[in-house]
Amino acid sequence: MMEIYKDPNASVDDRVANLLSLMTLEEKIGQVGQTPMLEYEENREEYLQGVREGRYGSRILANTAWAGNCMEKPVNTEEINEIHKTALEESRLGIPLIFARDVIYGQETVLPIPLAQASSWNPQLVEESYTCVAREAAAMGIDWTFAPMMDVARDPRWGRVIETNGEDPHLTAEFAKAAIRGFQGGDVADSERLVACAKHFCAYGGSQGGRDYDTTEFSENTLQNTILPPFKAAVDEGVETLMSGFNDLGGEPVSGSKRLIRGWLKEENGFAGTVVSDWGSIADLAYFGVAEDGADSARMAIEAGVDLAMTNEHYQDHMQELVESGKVSMDVLDEAVARILRTKFRCGLFDNPYVDNGLKTQVLRRDDHVEKALQLAVESLVLLKNNDGVLPLEKPAKGGKTIAVVGPHAHSKRQHLGSWCLDGKLEDVTSIYEGIRAAAPEANIITEDAAFADEMMEAARWADIVVLCIGESHRRTGEARNISDLQLPAGQEELVESLAKSGKPLIVVQCTGRPVPSPAVELYADALLYAWQGGTEVGHAVAKVLFGDESPSGKLPISVPRNTGQIPIYYSQKKLGKMRDFLDYKPYKDIEATPLYPFGFGLSYAEFEYSELAIDKAEISAGEQAVVSVKVTNKGAVKAKEIVQMYVHDHVSSTTRPTHELKGFHKLELDAGESIVVSFTVGEEELAFFGAKQRFEAEKGKFSIIVGADCNATDRVDLELV
Ligand code: NOJ
Repeated sequence: MMEIYKDPNASVDDRVANLLSLMTLEEKIGQVGQTPMLEYEENREEYLQGVREGRYGSRILANTAWAGNCMEKPVNTEEINEIHKTALEESRLGIPLIFARDVIYGQETVLPIPLAQASSWNPQLVEESYTCVAREAAAMGIDWTFAPMMDVARDPRWGRVIETNGEDPHLTAEFAKAAIRGFQGGDVADSERLVACAKHFCAYGGSQGGRDYDTTEFSENTLQNTILPPFKAAVDEGVETLMSGFNDLGGEPVSGSKRLIRGWLKEENGFAGTVVSDWGSIADLAYFGVAEDGADSARMAIEAGVDLAMTNEHYQDHMQELVESGKVSMDVLDEAVARILRTKFRCGLFDNPYVDNGLKTQVLRRDDHVEKALQLAVESLVLLKNNDGVLPLEKPAKGGKTIAVVGPHAHSKRQHLGSWCLDGKLEDVTSIYEGIRAAAPEANIITEDAAFADEMMEAARWADIVVLCIGESHRRTGEARNISDLQLPAGQEELVESLAKSGKPLIVVQCTGRPVPSPAVELYADALLYAWQGGTEVGHAVAKVLFGDESPSGKLPISVPRNTGQIPIYYSQKKLGKMRDFLDYKPYKDIEATPLYPFGFGLSYAEFEYSELAIDKAEISAGEQAVVSVKVTNKGAVKAKEIVQMYVHDHVSSTTRPTHELKGFHKLELDAGESIVVSFTVGEEELAFFGAKQRFEAEKGKFSIIVGADCNATDRVDLELV
């Protein structure tokens, strides 16, 4: 008789329970570890023997070099199939391995970094783009990705701000949900889908001083209102796995926190999937001094609810002794194993783990994938400055105006893929120069080697318009790549200033993995376009916007500070105390307190007018919703997209609240002259927060609903919750 766990028609719960009842302690321990890549590459026969003995349940397909460097060790589908075959046909119970890789924002078709994606304010497009990414990665035999990241980032010195969706919990949650839907689809067992992983649970993005891996400190109020909501949204969206972070949170390293993982995540919020540790986060428990040694770290982590140890850390070495000595109960181990098996059953691994070796040639960089990545790259661009409407440029015909395309990013390629790109290929990246060239084949476009400022200057002198492409290398962004001072890389301020001396209109395209203010750009540039790290299609996207084939439609998901000293700076600030009566009070003597460019801001080639803001009722009671509407009119001459934002302000509450909190947004496309009435529903969900009663609740009283084009919007309607 066939065992229940092998029956694809049996329920996942029954299959898990049946399989668990058949497993030895050694086989269970095999499931709670994730083997690092080297063990197979270095000793294939020994590794396969381990697979036969049920010692390995999962593999991380990382690079042999440190993960921030890419394109060194491509995924090999034949190896993956060999391991699957060995597990299925030669191990006692035939439990398949699950293969994970950091497919963060692209496989071979590489999207813009998540911070740029959030600038699109278009979650639907992000979902569709991740569907393409999932299809490409799945064709490589990858089952599981360690994305999306849902850390809220309020310190752009932190290199991993690239992987975030910026400073706001609502925006972060919306994009994280979109990425999860894109990766997992309606049925994660679909062979074109991946298991997603919400990370890093929790608060990792608050590392002090922007120093990756540093201590984090958040009050319970901030943790609950700002840090945890995106994770709650991910759980509600059905994310299959979560990753526990490296960080110490106020004295409680999260990977050892029973309160947060077993308590908040699993018990309170009903997360039924797998929690995987981050690389080293179990070993850190002893290093931080909250566990005695490796064995104690393993005990602490599994009791906290960390089901799977990335890179095996301590679980494989100590779990047997911990269980046999009674330090870890079999029930605790069983629960971890059951969760991992559940993930494997749910993603269809038991039923068909193999990948067709030939599939990749049909799927990688499929036309529709490239088209989606291009559209997302276009919508990720944020126009921050456009003096006298210098942009869009007219596409020059033969003999027309000469455009100089110069600067460190005029011809760069690798840098646009960002630091968390493992499989993108340089030959697939269109540089900004190439994009402009392709968009205006007749035009006279000149360029120079970025190494020589004098040569770039000469090009500028010859040209009628200068497009200067500046910014960071990917090597200054990403994991462990923080900066202490938010400035452009050395020499670029001077470059902007010297090219401005050419006297030609100066268009700056800034390619950075974080907001970076530039005094020279502020002083001298006629236009500033943030292109972030835009992925393989960056060059075509920039050209489309420069030439007005598309109006820019991105808006900032993170404030651009005036200087490093303003950090932390974010829009959802609370009211200032004490000095409120001094209208001319300036928080800093040396600089404005406002950011250089605020959250939610971005220019368009059109102009939008907001009018007729209205609410359908002045009061609601529990369970009811009000509808807020506003008329948006495109007063410009071109079709363009606008992002309409809705913020909430609570007038009297049991704890202090920000003056503005984003609770909704719509991205619309309007023809020249067209008007659209946009509406938002507001109910308890939008009004609730974690207050003095230590739970989420919409407290009765007066609220203002503020609607407009960015976080400085002032048009409001009032609403009373009675
Ligand atoms: C460490 C990073 O923090 C995490 O985000 C990543 O997924 C893992 N390494 C695996 O590479």
